[in-house]
Amino acid sequence: METPGCAGMISVRLFCFVLQGLLLFGFHHVQSGNVLIIPGEFSHWYHMRVIVEELVERKHSVTVLVSSSSTTVKYAEEKGFRFQFFSVPMEEHDIMVMWYNFIDAYVQYPNSSTLENASRMWKIMGTLKDYHSTLCESMLRNETVLDALRQSKFDLVLIDPYTPCGDLLADTLNVPFIVVMKLFFGYSLERICGQMPSTPSYIPTQPVNFSDKMNFQERVQNFLQYIIHTLTFLAQMNIYMKPFYSDVKGEPTVPCDVFGKAEIWLIRSSWDWDYPRPFPPNFVYIGGYHCKPAKPLPKEMEEFVQSSGNDGIVVFSLGSIFKNLTLEKRNTFASALGQIPQKVLWALSGEKPETLAPNTRIYDWIPQNDLLGHPKTKAFISHGGSNGIFEAIYHGVPIVGIPLFGDQSENILFMKFKGAAIMLDLFKMEAKDLVEALHTVTNDPLYKKNMMRISELHHDQPTKPLDRALFWIEFVMRNKGAKHLRVQAHNLTWYQYYCLDVAVFLLAVVGLFIFIMVKTCCFYIRKCCWRTRRKNKKE
Ligand SMILES: *[C@@H]1O[C@H](CO)[C@@H](O)[C@H](O)[C@H]1NC(C)=O
Ligand SMILES: *[C@@H]1O[C@H](CO)[C@@H](O)[C@H](O)[C@H]1NC(C)=O
Ligand SMILES: *[C@@H]1O[C@H](CO)[C@@H](O)[C@H](O)[C@H]1NC(C)=O
Ligand SMILES: *[C@@H]1O[C@H](CO)[C@@H](O)[C@H](O)[C@H]1NC(C)=O
Ligand SMILES: *[C@@H]1O[C@H](CO)[C@@H](O)[C@H](O)[C@H]1NC(C)=O
Ligand SMILES: *[C@@H]1O[C@H](CO)[C@@H](O)[C@H](O)[C@H]1NC(C)=O
Repeated sequence: METPGCAGMISVRLFCFVLQGLLLFGFHHVQSGNVLIIPGEFSHWYHMRVIVEELVERKHSVTVLVSSSSTTVKYAEEKGFRFQFFSVPMEEHDIMVMWYNFIDAYVQYPNSSTLENASRMWKIMGTLKDYHSTLCESMLRNETVLDALRQSKFDLVLIDPYTPCGDLLADTLNVPFIVVMKLFFGYSLERICGQMPSTPSYIPTQPVNFSDKMNFQERVQNFLQYIIHTLTFLAQMNIYMKPFYSDVKGEPTVPCDVFGKAEIWLIRSSWDWDYPRPFPPNFVYIGGYHCKPAKPLPKEMEEFVQSSGNDGIVVFSLGSIFKNLTLEKRNTFASALGQIPQKVLWALSGEKPETLAPNTRIYDWIPQNDLLGHPKTKAFISHGGSNGIFEAIYHGVPIVGIPLFGDQSENILFMKFKGAAIMLDLFKMEAKDLVEALHTVTNDPLYKKNMMRISELHHDQPTKPLDRALFWIEFVMRNKGAKHLRVQAHNLTWYQYYCLDVAVFLLAVVGLFIFIMVKTCCFYIRKCCWRTRRKNKKE
């Protein structure tokens, strides 16, 4: 039999349910946040774009701040986001020339002396510095741009440190910001600005070539490298950046004090790749977030891949700005590739090698992720850019690495120490070395097995890296920051951090104690002696 109370209960339940729904809606969803993105160029933009697209997908309003001389970003199609331009008194062409000179310094002068190399690098670093200060000036001194940004009332700024001064802009706009980056330059930025512990006894510092298991000699080398990185970084911050930061802030400002305000550090690395290390709570690993299951290949490419039969294919790409390979090197590569049984798809722009074996095809651009995910793919020849390495991990393809500069050799070394890659030196390498490396990687089952193990670990995570990144981005917008995750180390001076003041204090206490003890003892001994002497005299 129905009682009248029951209907009442149902309506109460219904009310609760609706209320719960409203609360959930209010608290657990950011209703379209307003995000400003300050991306880097080249591969940095390609991976940032994945986050931009996901933000758009989740109905957030996204603005990408881009310089008028951008080399990559400004050519992107606006799909659901908008660009805010700021003009830079620099031609895109000059910036490309700067990067080409930078790459040339690594690839074109095999016979230079150390001095010539150093002077060339010094010149390039000078233009890089000018480029950086021009970017900073144009971004932070243009009131038109600043006003437009202020009026947009952003909830969050997402910065890639490839473009300098993003932190300072977020600070000027008084908006919380999140950093998206890869661990870099001996972890100086994360260590000094982010308070990430990085003990040189077991954490190898780039560019030394050993793992986290170091013997005494390696630890000495690693320690020296650590000191050099620290000093270089501090010099760069305090000589180049500090005057500008102080000027904009109107008071003496150490750049790290601004950069260290980052709410969350989204790091493009992962534990299946990096060495285990301690992290502050506001550091989150999101490496591999741009990886996706493979899509079907274009028809012509698929036919070529299928024609490889049981031997399979090799995917060869040396990255988006690595175009200045000498013809001699191109020929070396071409002749090596002609000697392997696999078919090769080679992404190469610029001058074609003089002879090309029938098993090799050259493309201006290849769908790298789709190729790496193809069942016929046996190996990946890569310069070691982190985007490509993560795609290889995602799809479980062993690597032949030919690193050039920056973090590339480090990226390959991680995989080499895990038995999933072979590393070659671009300058010392001969055709036979590449043939041998490819033969080993494709025929020794250990490489495939090790790579599959890394790949399995990579896929076995509680949340997908991209979802993790978006969670923290939305978390910061929902909660207006994440300062509760910031370690207090940020507020300590260096001698407080290492407890040097405490040590000095305790030493002083112990010293005082010893001093008093000695004095007291002496006092009694003297008194005692005096008494005995007097006694002796009387007798
Ligand atoms: C500021 O930026 C706007 C828009 O990019 C540009 O039109 C203007 O010339 C810039 N002003 C200065 C002083 O650079
Ligand atoms: C100078 O740089 C080139 C290219 O990076 C390299 O091959 C060469 O060994 C360097 N010279 C010295 C003396 O280190
Ligand atoms: C470097 O030296 C080698 C051996 O002396 C020579 O064969 C080669 O042509 C030189 N390369 C350049 C770019 O000068
Ligand atoms: C590190 O470099 C040294 C000298 O260049 C080389 O002999 C050694 O094999 C390298 N170690 C690894 C693990 O690559
Ligand atoms: C490097 O590439 C750029 C652009 O293709 C070209 O202008 C430059 O001359 C190249 N440098 C060398 C040494 O080939
Ligand atoms: C720590 O420093 C930040 C700025 O650097 C400041 O906002 C905050 O109040 C400080 N926290 C404490 C507990 O002193």
